Amino acid sequence: MSILVTGGLGYIGSHTVVELINNNFEVIIVDDLSNSEKFILNNIEEITGKRPIFYPFDLTRKELLTQVFEAHNIEGCINFAAFKAVGESMEKPLDYYENNLFSLINILQEFRKRNISNFIFSSSCTVYGQADQMPIDESTPLKEAESSYGKTKQMGEDILKDFSKAYQKRVSLLRYFNPIGAHPSALLGELPSGIPNNLVPYVTQTAAGIREKLNVWGDDYPTEDGTAIRDYIYVLDLAKAHVAALKKLINSEEETVLDIYNLGTGKGSSVLEVVKAFELANDVKVPYQICPRREGDITIAYANADKAEKELGWKSETTLEEALRTTWEWQKYLKERTN
Ligand code: NAD
Ligand code: WQD
Repeated sequence: MSILVTGGLGYIGSHTVVELINNNFEVIIVDDLSNSEKFILNNIEEITGKRPIFYPFDLTRKELLTQVFEAHNIEGCINFAAFKAVGESMEKPLDYYENNLFSLINILQEFRKRNISNFIFSSSCTVYGQADQMPIDESTPLKEAESSYGKTKQMGEDILKDFSKAYQKRVSLLRYFNPIGAHPSALLGELPSGIPNNLVPYVTQTAAGIREKLNVWGDDYPTEDGTAIRDYIYVLDLAKAHVAALKKLINSEEETVLDIYNLGTGKGSSVLEVVKAFELANDVKVPYQICPRREGDITIAYANADKAEKELGWKSETTLEEALRTTWEWQKYLKERTN
């Protein structure tokens, strides 16, 4: 069965492509390389022994997308392609709305025209904002997102709810918590462009000496050690959840399905706990300094992922330390590559 994977050379997409190939799906990638690199395609081939079909173009270019649908018998899509930098989205909201939503609508129009079902959307825990209660389950009320990026996820979810209902389609909205780690082969991982915003890439680059010190954004939160808490989920566990969610849609006897799942570990870790776990896992030092809080940050978010376990038979399996070990191996690989 052929599955379109948009953004399939990106961080989460590339890991998912490997899992799809391991599960005998034929993968067709569309990625414009705006936040990824071509060598990832070779590395996917090295891991799986199969080279996915690859089209390098921007999904907002509707006519090129139509050609892909004409050339292949596509029976489902996992839509990773999006811009994802929260801060940048506030400076360039129109670019974010255009990229993230036009590309989504273009794919959905092809699905509608060709009577295709089975659509998986990369959503985010950002749709919950600072939830009033922990852990966050899928019935937790959504709060208006603070960033334009977050709004593209909320709007994307709304578009897909209407799409599923009006055209009788099977749709799964996957709300990721904080993805971390790299492929155990060290051939796939996150490629932060410029100075990383996210915690784990910044910690990794600090340990590697690329950054002098980690800035810990705030130690005056109402948590045990005063630093903010998140749910860090290993990227390959996350990738496996996509295959499980896709199989559920494909095997469903219902014509119309709207699944929503939180994908997290169910466990919260503070910023300082992540730093310590990284040091312990990799036997390296991560110098840090305490700084004021970062604007827009919430105090705490971790998932209740019981629904995914019950309905998809999926749960996170990898510990924080194990995940952070793979990150460090990936960093070493990147260093060797550029030498
Ligand atoms: P990523 O930037 O590594 O991957 C996205 C890929 O999409 C990139 O390879 C990029 O080149 C491609 N792309 C972007 N716009 C495109 C377009 N118009 N046409 C074709 N290709 C395009 O990001 P990621 O971390 O792998 O995230 C994947 C998805 O998961 C995104 O939708 C993101 O919003 C969502 N998400 C990510 C996180 C996270 O922390 N990484 C958390 C929650 C949700
Ligand atoms: C985690 C914690 C920081 C960097 C973002 C998006 C969210 C989702 C995941 C896509 C926070 C602290 C960080 C640093 C630090 N992405 N930190 N020093 O903010 O939970 O979520 O990525 O959907 O939408 O907003 O992740 O990794 O940026 O931060 O102290 O240099 O680490 O303050 O408490 P966040 P993050």
